[in-house]
Amino acid sequence: MANFPSDGFSYFYNLKRYMLIQSKNKKVIRILGIESSCDETAASVIENGKILSNIVASQDVHKEYGGVVPELASRAHQQNIVPVVDTALKKAGIDPVDLDAVAVTEGPGLLGSLLVGVSFAKSLSLALDIPLIGVHHMQAHILAHFIRETSDRLPGFPFLAMTLSGGHTQIVLVRDYFDMEVLGETLDDAVGEAYDKIAQIMGLPYPGGPEIDRLAKEGNPEAFRFPVPKVQDYAFSFSGLKTAVLYFLQKKVKENPGFIRENMADLAASVQATIIRILMEKLKKAVKETGIKSVAIGGGVSANKGLRNALLEWAEKDQIDIFIPPFEYTTDNAAMIAVAGYLKYLKGDFAGLDLIPKPRFPLH
Ligand code: KG4
Ligand code: ZN
Repeated sequence: MANFPSDGFSYFYNLKRYMLIQSKNKKVIRILGIESSCDETAASVIENGKILSNIVASQDVHKEYGGVVPELASRAHQQNIVPVVDTALKKAGIDPVDLDAVAVTEGPGLLGSLLVGVSFAKSLSLALDIPLIGVHHMQAHILAHFIRETSDRLPGFPFLAMTLSGGHTQIVLVRDYFDMEVLGETLDDAVGEAYDKIAQIMGLPYPGGPEIDRLAKEGNPEAFRFPVPKVQDYAFSFSGLKTAVLYFLQKKVKENPGFIRENMADLAASVQATIIRILMEKLKKAVKETGIKSVAIGGGVSANKGLRNALLEWAEKDQIDIFIPPFEYTTDNAAMIAVAGYLKYLKGDFAGLDLIPKPRFPLH
């Protein structure tokens, strides 16, 4: 039986929907997913776990500031949300009245950004008289592995997931779709944040992760050595690396103002090698200590080519069953929200119209 919210109105609101679904015993289930937690406005339509459309509008407005400006992000979401949803429905060839539910990111993320998606999804749920489903953004990054065409192979439970984004760096034990335990996470900056901040120090445009990844291919990863932090258990720390790079470059630029420009590729390769070393060390420790040899990665930084290569090499050497999402499902997208919504729909796990965005939202 479904998990219903405890207040009276939401209870009856959702009970009605649950009974409706049960009575229809539908074979085809279509869900609209909406994502607006940070600086991507995205919508996707999924039919029985298969993606029919996946639309993402990225916000270029933040580029000149070197990071996401929350107020500008909410305004851009406000402008983008209707055309993005409309395009996703048209591309899928689905009329809004044929939707069975609307799933939306409820957190974590920027409050103003989340509010745009959540308010829109609530209105749509009310207008179409279909259930509303709240989705945890980081859970969705992990559940992206269950998008049907992602691979002919799906991870089996339990598996380990490493979530790597602009706001999170976690090692998660995934016992079931919605039974996840964070084994360890970053104590300070997230890995994507480290990439972006270091790239900014190097004078590269935002977001810096893909820039460093691109440059790293042409550089020597042994050219410069940066320290790997010593932190307990499955915790991570990236602020020390950022400071180490900053001080190193300040010193070098004093001696030679053209140092960064002349060593761009080697610097990128060395930073990237250090970050990969930090991630791989903790992941290997988690596999060794839990005995779980099935590992999935997710989040924007899982697009990183250097990391993907390191994971594939390790998988072959140590017989690890590795799951790497296709590029379009690594950075923020709504297909992952739609698939998480579909899995919740099957459980009858709906939200009430009292759903509120949760900027801080622990994963459990
Ligand atoms: O998951 P995501 O799209 O948004 C958040 O939920 O934060 O992750 C964005 C982060 C940014 O920090 C970006 O620089 C990083 O992912 N990123 C990368 C790459 N592509 C995106 N970092 C390293 N290498 C990449 N290829
Ligand atoms: Zn994300």
